[in-house]
Amino acid sequence: MKQPKDKYEVVSEMGKRRGYFWQSYEIYGGVGGFITYGPLGSLLKRRLEEKFRRFYLQPLAILEIETSVIMPENVLEASGHVENFKEPTVECTKCKRKFRADHLLQEFGEMTDTETEKMALQSVVDELKSHNIRCPDCGGDFNKAEQFMTMFTTTIGPYSDSVGYGRPEAAQGIFVEFKRIFESARGRLPLGVAQIGHALRNEISPRQGPVRLREFTIIDIEFFFDPEDKKCLIINDVGDETLRFVLAENKLKGITEPVTITIKEALNKGIIKEEWQAYFMAQAKRFLVEMGVPEDQQRFIEKLDYERAHYSMQGFDQEVYLERWGWTEVSGHNYRTDFDLSRHMKASGVDLTAFKESEDGGKRFVPHVIEPSFGLDRLVYVALEYAYTKRNKRTVLSLPRDLTPMQVSVFPLMNKDGLLEKADEVYHLLVNEGFTVDWDSSGSIGRRYARADEVGTPLGITIDYGTLEDGTVTLRDRDSWKQVRSKLAELPSLLHGYFCNRLNFEDLGQIIER
Ligand code: GLY
Repeated sequence: MKQPKDKYEVVSEMGKRRGYFWQSYEIYGGVGGFITYGPLGSLLKRRLEEKFRRFYLQPLAILEIETSVIMPENVLEASGHVENFKEPTVECTKCKRKFRADHLLQEFGEMTDTETEKMALQSVVDELKSHNIRCPDCGGDFNKAEQFMTMFTTTIGPYSDSVGYGRPEAAQGIFVEFKRIFESARGRLPLGVAQIGHALRNEISPRQGPVRLREFTIIDIEFFFDPEDKKCLIINDVGDETLRFVLAENKLKGITEPVTITIKEALNKGIIKEEWQAYFMAQAKRFLVEMGVPEDQQRFIEKLDYERAHYSMQGFDQEVYLERWGWTEVSGHNYRTDFDLSRHMKASGVDLTAFKESEDGGKRFVPHVIEPSFGLDRLVYVALEYAYTKRNKRTVLSLPRDLTPMQVSVFPLMNKDGLLEKADEVYHLLVNEGFTVDWDSSGSIGRRYARADEVGTPLGITIDYGTLEDGTVTLRDRDSWKQVRSKLAELPSLLHGYFCNRLNFEDLGQIIER
C-alpha cells in the first residue's frame, strides 16, 4: 500500500512548486546539503531574520557585526576547532559511500545521541555490526571508522601553506574582533554582540534537506559579562515562564520525558547555572511560540559532559518536534565562560581583558560569555511545517502575519471594463506604502484564492464593479475565508494596523454575510 506523504514531503513539494526552497544544482542532479531559496523562501527567511532582531536583539541593544567567512588556520587552532571539529565516519566496502556512523546508529539502531556521543571509534563499528546495520544505499558492509574533519579547507591566496577554513560558526568572528567592538561600545558590560551570516560545515552524508546543510545561516549571539557581577536585571520578565526540560540526570537513567519547570525554579534548583542563560532560553521558547510552535512541541535537552562542545561549561539544546525527523535542534544555549577570549589572548598575545575599578585601584579580567545560537534555515523549515494545514482538502499555509512573504494579493475580478487599471492603481498604492503585494489576474477568483492560501498570503483584495462605483474593495482572510468590505482610501492605515497586530481581520471593514 502507498504510504501517505509526510509533512516534509508535502512542504518540499509545495516549496519547489511555489518558490520556497529546493535542492541546489538541480539541473546537474542536485548536491546534498545545499538548498536554494526561491523568491518566496528568501522573503520568508528575511522576515524571520527581521523578527528575530526585533524580538531577541533589539530589546537588549545587542550589537551586530559582519565578519568574513574564510578564517585563517591560527584562529581556528586557537579556538580548538581544528582539534575538535570532527565526526566519526564509516565507508561502505562495496560502493565506497561514506556515512556518519553515529547517525546510522541513531537511524537504524534505535540508539540515542546520548548513547552514540560517548562511543569510541572502534565501538561504533562493533555496534554497527551487532545491530546488523549495512549500507543504506547498496547493503554492503562497513570498514573501520575514522574521524573526519568537518570544516571546509582551502588556501588563502596561491600559497599552499596558508591554510584557511570556512568558518563553522560565526562566533569566532566576534571573539577575534572583541577588542575593537568593546572599545567602540565604551567598555560597557554586559555587552551582547551578534552575527547573522553563512557558516560552512562539510557534513558527511546529509539527507535531511533544509535541516542539515553544508552551507547555512547561523545566528550567533555572544553575551559578554563580568563573572563577578552576573545578575540579569530583567530576569523577572521571564521568571514565571515554563520550559520543558529533559534533564541530564534523567537522561542517564534513560528517562526522556520532559519535566516542566519555571525559569525561577530552574535557577533556584541550579538546573540552569547562569541567569543570563536562563533569560535567553525563555526568550527562545517565546520566539518559537510566536513562530507558531506550541509549547508542547518544544523542549530543552541538557547536555551531558561528553555531549557538550569543547568550549561549553553548561549547555542546552532547544528542540522542536518535526514529523519526519522527530525532536530536532533549532538552537543551542551554552555557557562558554572565558574559554574563547582566553585562548585568543594566549595565541595572539593581544590583551582581551576588561577593566573594572574598585576601592583598591581596580583589576583586569576576562569577560565570560553566554551564547544563544540559532540555525536560521531550520527555523524557516519549522515555520513552514507548522504553518502547513488543510482546510476542505485545500492547502492553507497559516504563517504568522509578520512572517508571510507576500502580505496582500490584488485580484481584479475581470480583465476588462477598467478593473485592471483600477487594480493596478491599488497595487501601486500598497507597494508605495511598503507592503509586499502579489498580483493575480488569471483564472477564476476561487482558483486565485486557493493559490494565495497555498503560499500563505493572509489578505486578498478583490477589485470589482463596486470598487469603480463607490471606492470600496473586498478583503478576504486566508484562515477563516471571511470577507469584509472596506474603503479603498482607508486601506493603507487599516493594513498597517493589521500587520503590526493592532487590528484583527474583523476590524478591517463591514463583514459580508454569505
Ligand atoms: N556557535 C554555535 C555553534 O557552533 O553551534
